[in-house]
Amino acid sequence: MKNFHNKTELSTHISALKTKGNLIGFVPTMGALHHGHLSLVNKGLSENDLIVVSIFVNPTQFDNKEDLVKYPRTLEADIALLKTVSDDKIMVYAPSVEDIYGNQIKSNAFTFDGLEHEMEGAFRNGHFDGVGTIVKRLFEIVKPDSAYFGEKDFQQLQIIKKLVELHHLPVKVMGCPIHRADDGLAMSSRNERLTSEHRTIAPFIYKTLETAKIKFGTKSAKTVTEWVEKQFKKQTLLELEYFIIADIKTLKPVKRKSTQKTYRAFVAVYADDIRLIDNIALN
Ligand code: PAJ
Repeated sequence: MKNFHNKTELSTHISALKTKGNLIGFVPTMGALHHGHLSLVNKGLSENDLIVVSIFVNPTQFDNKEDLVKYPRTLEADIALLKTVSDDKIMVYAPSVEDIYGNQIKSNAFTFDGLEHEMEGAFRNGHFDGVGTIVKRLFEIVKPDSAYFGEKDFQQLQIIKKLVELHHLPVKVMGCPIHRADDGLAMSSRNERLTSEHRTIAPFIYKTLETAKIKFGTKSAKTVTEWVEKQFKKQTLLELEYFIIADIKTLKPVKRKSTQKTYRAFVAVYADDIRLIDNIALN
């Protein structure tokens, strides 16, 4: 497996591969890889000749410094896991902060037609400026034909599609389904930090989303939201930050249900200081 730490070396290598007619897929990650990430890599491999996986804990997208410090960094294990998928079709780009940001660790300001103000944007100050900055920079370095993002971070996926549209970036953005543990918990690098007590209770999040989906078939968004909030009040180990049923195009909370629109329910929950997010398609 080829490993790069330097953007110029990576770009030079990729342009030579593209000249030879190879299709390049790209999976940006922050590492601490799990099978959710691998599902993106596998999808990418089925549609491209070669895949670049970037592993970079991007400082500018963390609104909480402690979360940034505690974010797991497990490069060797990540590479070993990627090798179980393919040794010769994956390239890893694991840059230093300096390789990406020079000596100015700063994000650019973005607008994404208002998508940036909803949910994660409202609760995590500056988060999507950080995400927009890093993903745009990585696209410019890697110049992939297609890039793969998980629906686990559905708002991020919609924002990246908007980034590509508004900035006319020559990349096809592909969404991939949420990969879950057997008990339903959405896989996340943060799950590793849960205590065993919190890990045992965490599947409650997805179970509640599944029931909310059934209820949404016959009840209003307001009724479903109140029901979910009540369930979390009874569950003292998990603290609900938000539960929102939103139109997938605008990400704005639904006021009146329409059969013409597609909705998803989104949730953010604290298990102690660990923030977990999940979502589910409703119709
Ligand atoms: P990270 O959290 O490492 O996630 C990398 C990619 O894996 C994202 O597209 C995310 O949605 C996807 N992913 C994570 N868990 C998943 C799961 N259980 N099922 C399916 N896909 C899953 O998202 C980021 O990193 C960063 O914001 C990044 C885009 C790399 C920019 O720094």
